[in-house]
Amino acid sequence: MGEATGVAAVRVDDVSKYFRHRRLGWRGWEEEAVCAVDRVSLTVEPGEIYGLLGLNGSGKSTLIRMMATLLLPDSGRIRVFGHDVVEERARVRQWLARVSAEAGFFKKLTARENLYYAAGLYGCRPRQFFAEAKALLARWDLEPERLEVPMEELSRGQQQKVAIARALTLASRVLFLDEPTTGLDPKSRREVQEAILAAHREYGLTIFLSTHDLAEAQRLCHRVAVLHAGRLVAEGPPEEVLAGPGEGEEAFFQLIAHEGPD
Ligand SMILES: Nc1ncnc2c1ncn2[C@@H]1O[C@H](COP(=O)(O)OP(=O)(O)OP(=O)(O)O)[C@@H](O)[C@H]1O
Ligand SMILES: [Mg+2]
Repeated sequence: MGEATGVAAVRVDDVSKYFRHRRLGWRGWEEEAVCAVDRVSLTVEPGEIYGLLGLNGSGKSTLIRMMATLLLPDSGRIRVFGHDVVEERARVRQWLARVSAEAGFFKKLTARENLYYAAGLYGCRPRQFFAEAKALLARWDLEPERLEVPMEELSRGQQQKVAIARALTLASRVLFLDEPTTGLDPKSRREVQEAILAAHREYGLTIFLSTHDLAEAQRLCHRVAVLHAGRLVAEGPPEEVLAGPGEGEEAFFQLIAHEGPD
């Protein structure tokens, strides 16, 4: 199937997601629906680094999980390079990878073993896959010896680099990074940010990332959006969205104070 030129890398149209929460009420346990993502629409252009900001519980991870085919939207539509993430899930999956703050590894296995496992799982050639990831990691100052010790012996920054290398080796078009630098010290954070920028430069991937770090959004992203209680309340270049009466943090607080849901 051909793709029209000018097709968006990711297109989210009017997407909502509800979760059922149980709570103890007057008549015993009651179920209530919580709207985690509320009619969100956005477009990410090919080759763009797009950042998502928002408080804890604002819906960032839920939105990313829907975009990455891990969760079904209740309404609306998401397309990756023109293909529907629900109807054409298998196809879309071949193009993307996701990294979350909690990198999913077998902690007792080495990075090499984890990378071989990922290759097998996704039907890639293990040796080639490992060689590619290893080459990336060497450039990000992770010595090859470190790939031979159990993952649990690596620092969080090192683990995150392995996770990003794994994702980059898997993703051919779009990389979803859900808080890739949360919990890292300033040096590791900077290294992971450099790795993201280098990956973007060299692979030309489209990158969608969520972060709580406004400086990170300003440094990495071409555009950012602010999600508040599931709704998109601002979008644009970081220098515009995070500008205004108070720069950075103040601007962010004003956005979620004045433009929140009714
Ligand atoms: N699997 C789930 N089951 C029930 N409720 C969920 C589930 N996942 C998320 N939620 C709810 O959806 C809302 C949005 O959560 P989400 O994890 O998307 O927020 P977030 O912006 O990623 O927050 P954080 O910054 O803390 O990572 C919250 O109210 C949360 O309780
Ligand atoms: Mg989250």
